[in-house]
Order: sequence, then C-alpha cells, then structure tokens
Amino acid sequence: MSSSYDALVLPSHVKTVLITGAGGFVGQQLTQLLLQLYPSIRLITVDINVPPTYGITDSNKLKSVKADLGDLDQVKSLFEGETIGGVFALHGIMSGGAEANFDLGYAVNVDAHLNVLKTAVAHAATFPEGEKTVYVFASSLAVYGGPKCRPQDLVVPADTPLIPETSYGCQKQIIETYAYDYGRRGMLDTRCVRLPTVAIRSGAPSTAASSFISGLIREPLLGQISECPIASGPDDPILDQLPVYLSRTKTVIRNLVWALCMPQSSFKERVSRSLNLPGISILPRDILNALVEHGGEEALKLVHWKRDPVVVRICLTWPGDFDSSESVALGFEQDDTKTGFSSAVGDFKELLVAQAK
Ligand SMILES: NC(=O)c1ccc[n+]([C@@H]2O[C@H](COP(=O)([O-])OP(=O)(O)OC[C@H]3O[C@@H](n4cnc5c(N)ncnc54)[C@H](O)[C@@H]3O)[C@@H](O)[C@H]2O)c1
Repeated sequence: MSSSYDALVLPSHVKTVLITGAGGFVGQQLTQLLLQLYPSIRLITVDINVPPTYGITDSNKLKSVKADLGDLDQVKSLFEGETIGGVFALHGIMSGGAEANFDLGYAVNVDAHLNVLKTAVAHAATFPEGEKTVYVFASSLAVYGGPKCRPQDLVVPADTPLIPETSYGCQKQIIETYAYDYGRRGMLDTRCVRLPTVAIRSGAPSTAASSFISGLIREPLLGQISECPIASGPDDPILDQLPVYLSRTKTVIRNLVWALCMPQSSFKERVSRSLNLPGISILPRDILNALVEHGGEEALKLVHWKRDPVVVRICLTWPGDFDSSESVALGFEQDDTKTGFSSAVGDFKELLVAQAK
C-alpha cells in the first residue's frame, strides 16, 4: 500500500461506519479497502440485495443487510442500537437509468437519500458537537451543465454555477443542498464529493450514460463485444473531439476514504460542503489506444460501432475538464494525466487475472 494511504486516519469517534449501496461497484471496492485499512472498526453494509461479506462471518466486524432504503422503517432499523460515526451514502440509480425512469430516479436518488440523511440527523441529535456523524455523499460532476460547461470549454472552474442538464444531476444537486444545510446547522458533518466517471468499472455495465468508457475496455478484455454508442465507426471525428473526465477506481476509492478522514475544518470554513474529486481529461481515442496497448489489435476488433443519439446528446453536455486544484490542495489525489488511464486498465487486467485463479 502506497504512502498516500498513511493519511487515512479515521476521526477518533468513528467506530462504526454504514455504507449504503454496498453491493454496487463503488460500494464493494470501498468496503474491501475499509476492511483492509481498519480491522478494528464495525462496518454495516446495506443494499437492495444482501451485499457480499468477503468471507467475514463475525457480524461485529461486518454486518451485511438487505434493505430497501426507500422504506423509512427499514432505514431506521439500520441505525437502531448502533452508534454510527460515519456514513458513505452511495446507493443510487445511475444517469441513463434516472433519465429513462423519472419516478425511479427521484424515488432512489432523492427520497431514499432523504430517508438516510434524516435518520442520520435524528441518530446524531445527542452526539456532542465535533462528534456528529461524518456523512459522505457520493455526488457527481453531473451537477454541472449549461452554457459554460461544454466539451470545448477547456477547464471548468469549481465555482461555476450548477445547472444540471439531466434528472440525475438535478437529483444529486437536491441532496447536496440538504447535506449543505444539515452541515451548516451542525446537525451532521456532511461532505459531498462529486465523483468523476470511475474507470474501469468491473462487473455488469451500469445504466450510466458514461458506461461506454469502461465498456470499451472491459468487454473486449473479457473477449466479448463492446458496442460503442458515441461513434459510427473508428474514423468518427467524435473520438478525437469529446473529452471525458474520469479517475482510476483505486484513486476514487482512496479519495472517498479521505473524505471521511479529512479534518472537519476543511469543510467548515468553506461556503459549500461539496468538492469536485480530481480526475483526468482524456479522449475516446486514448481509451481505444489503451485497449490496444493492453489487449492488442484483436481486442480492438471486438469494438462494434453503434452510435446512439440519446447517449451522444448526454455526452455533449459534459464538460471535458475541471479545475480540481482546490481538492488536490485539501489532500485528494489526482491520477497522472499521461499514465493514469493506462494504469486503470492495468488494474482491471490484474483483477481479471486474480478472478481467474
Ligand atoms: N461509478 C461512477 O462512475 C460514478 C460517477 C459519479 C457518481 N457516482 C455515484 O457513486 C455512487 C456509487 O456508484 P456505483 O457505480 O457503485 O453505482 P452502482 O449502480 O454500482 O451501485 C448502486 C447501488 O445502489 C443500490 N440501490 C439502488 N436502489 C436502492 C434502494 N432502494 N435500496 C438499497 N440499495 C439500493 C443498487 O442495488 C446498487 O447496488 C452512486 O450514488 C453514483 O451516483 C458513481
């Protein structure tokens, strides 16, 4: 483990941590890192299906719960009899899913998050100041949009007004606003971190519009066909024109843990409780080049071109790059601009080798 993990010292009052959406891609990676880093804390993991337990049978160390977070009673029962010092709120319906199903998007990305937030507030009501539950909400850069956030706008400053252009982005902004107010009033120690696209996503593809970024690597390296929804062929100019902003999975997971560990003062003195996690800006062509680097020309042949105007429309609302100097100064890590994506592909290849054993 690199020295950047040395900084990940939990606040002393955080002895039990709740992870929602723990069966998802980020939740699984995060749970495993927390188990590795903090063998003496208690984790409560929850998802709509029982989250994995990684061979751990001691429920004092890891309690894995199946619950629908849209049901307030089920949420309340997660907190009963516990002293939850930290929460990672990760559950959600991704961008494409929330765009396709308006009601489901709001039910999960707003209502189910408010259930957890409000229950956490009530839970922490008697905790002393300075020891309120540290509440990390996984937001998204999809809160940005509008005329100042287009792929051609080179770097979007962090203080750009939020004008989300998808229901998903609106839902994230709504929860950020609640989290800000609970933090401002000292009811919870809220920290909203806007994740860039996390690459390479393992497991099943998500319903995120950005799903193709990982899909262009994942499926071909598994010997499967990957449909590229943004280009009609390998010579489509969009491959050299549409910057995508992403971060290596390992880096995002480390940064999420840092969001729990970083001093409260970093957020208290800010006018907002939200930060953009650092990422790197690359082109779809760079993704294809990394595929060839790690999988050869044969892997590239598994990419099939199927331009989908709905996905293209969403992608064209994405800014290509963000100024993340503030979060870097606060201790969040940034991938190397030149080698970061290739390293992410290397991590995924290592995972495939480990799974094959
Ligand atoms: N992965 C990314 O690239 C990315 C980028 C930006 C933001 N995020 C945010 O990070 C978080 C985690 O992302 P992910 O990639 O792990 O998503 P994911 O889809 O893999 O996991 C989300 C989990 O939420 C669970 N869930 C949905 N509805 C639920 C409910 N009613 N009750 C309980 N659980 C429920 C799902 O079962 C799923 O396991 C999400 O909030 C997402 O919006 C992710």
